[in-house]
Amino acid sequence: MKIFIDTADVAEIRDAAAMGVVDGVTTNPSLVAQTGRSYRSVIEEICEIIDGPISAEVLSTDLEGMLKEARDVATWHPNVVVKIPLIPDGLKVVRTLTDEGIKTNVTLCFSPTQGMLAAKAGATYISPFLGRIDDISWDGMELIGQLRTIYDNYGFDTQILAASIRHPKHVVECALIGADVGTMPHKVILQLAKHPLTDAGLAKFLADAAKIPPT
Ligand code: E4P
Repeated sequence: MKIFIDTADVAEIRDAAAMGVVDGVTTNPSLVAQTGRSYRSVIEEICEIIDGPISAEVLSTDLEGMLKEARDVATWHPNVVVKIPLIPDGLKVVRTLTDEGIKTNVTLCFSPTQGMLAAKAGATYISPFLGRIDDISWDGMELIGQLRTIYDNYGFDTQILAASIRHPKHVVECALIGADVGTMPHKVILQLAKHPLTDAGLAKFLADAAKIPPT
């Protein structure tokens, strides 16, 4: 499973990239707003750090506005993937962009029928927000499994980009189900590397090493 980092904080991206584990980046308007910078300047800096798919979201919601904005966002860098909301006009935009060779990430997916339509419209990625489904006491992971089954049943090429990941168990379950990508905050990437037995084992090795005679 590919790992994307879900942040607009370039310091976090640089830190995770140095570990060699980041395949791409997702952003959204809420994350970019936290930086106090323009959307374009943030995306262009991210593209210099990571050589992989970088999602940047359109801010319009009408058909013509989304199309115009998406075509512009796609010129920012060859690795930019345009994020389009999963609304009926958004699907029209995805169809047009796909026909023009522009990659899309269809965002805010909360049901298997939405995911099926996004794939039929030619989306490059579908972003099911599993954590937000868990938040309303539903089962976000069920949606990841349903999308995997539907896409495999009919040979859709759309990649499942599991989003709104909140903790390492989400990551493991997504990988077992066969999500193509998991996008997660910097904090979760660090949690993936942590284990108390690793820390305890290292502490013991270092304590014992101190008893080894120098010669
Ligand atoms: C993905 O593209 C979204 O930006 C993100 O995963 C949303 O996560 P949240 O539900 O934690 O805001």
